[in-house]
Amino acid sequence: MSTLTLEAPAKLNLTLDVLGKRDDGYHEMRMVMQSVSLADTLTLETAPGEGVALSTNLGFLPVDGRNLAAAAALRLQEAAGVDFGRLVIAIDKKVPVCAGMAGGSSDAAAVLRGLNTLLKLDISPEKLAQIGAGVGSDVPYCVLGGTALAEGRGEVVTPLPALPRCWVVIAKPGFPVSTPELFARLDGKRLRCHPDTAGMLAALESGDLPGVAHRLFNVFEDVLPGHRRDRVDELKQVLLHNGAMGASMTGTGPTVFGLFDREEVARAAHEAVRPLCPDSFLAQTL
Ligand code: C5P
Repeated sequence: MSTLTLEAPAKLNLTLDVLGKRDDGYHEMRMVMQSVSLADTLTLETAPGEGVALSTNLGFLPVDGRNLAAAAALRLQEAAGVDFGRLVIAIDKKVPVCAGMAGGSSDAAAVLRGLNTLLKLDISPEKLAQIGAGVGSDVPYCVLGGTALAEGRGEVVTPLPALPRCWVVIAKPGFPVSTPELFARLDGKRLRCHPDTAGMLAALESGDLPGVAHRLFNVFEDVLPGHRRDRVDELKQVLLHNGAMGASMTGTGPTVFGLFDREEVARAAHEAVRPLCPDSFLAQTL
């Protein structure tokens, strides 16, 4: 029997662009992604026997193959031709679910990384990312983490120079979003604005944090239903008025974040946003 505990960091989108719909039903994406210190904690334990037993601290989450963490374990078992006996996965969820922060994908990636270590499989990160692509579009990025460009349906990942260490205040409004619904709304709309991805890449290349902060942009904000868009805008304004260098929504939302170069400003902004949005967090970029 062996055990491993590891973190599954949340991701934020520094940019998110949708270039068009593909023949396979997915959308062609171009996104700059960033890992942050807000993370779930996973404990993996292998024991004699068979099957995957998964538990989480959130009773409403599926614990069967619909949970990406369990799906990842089964896919690795198949892809690597390994038999890990009985696998017990315990997930302590701290990253909000259905929030645009790839929490489920990051749990799946942590299972892939964790089993690779625990079972000494010696699979390269690139190969693990490839296996993860069969579990979900964001899993390959979550395997590699850090600052990266994600293209294709999200699974084509190119590492980028690390974002200079900074603070983030993350606020998740209470309303739910449906990823397929937002993609459908986008299909019916001609986008007026796109992120300056080339400018973002140049800002990262030169370690220009204000340049990064000024280029935060997510095309999904433009297709949110009116009252939800208002709520996202309101939270962004609160962050900006409290010293954020830039603010944006992440993924298909509804979570909003602001970037800060100084800890005390970020802490004060977190205090300001918390009464409006209890589901809020202070974190650092990784
Ligand atoms: O790959 P994943 O299972 O994470 O995708 C969830 C859903 O999001 C897909 O079924 C699809 O509706 C939408 N999607 C998309 N284009 C992408 C990624 C996701 O349309 N590039």
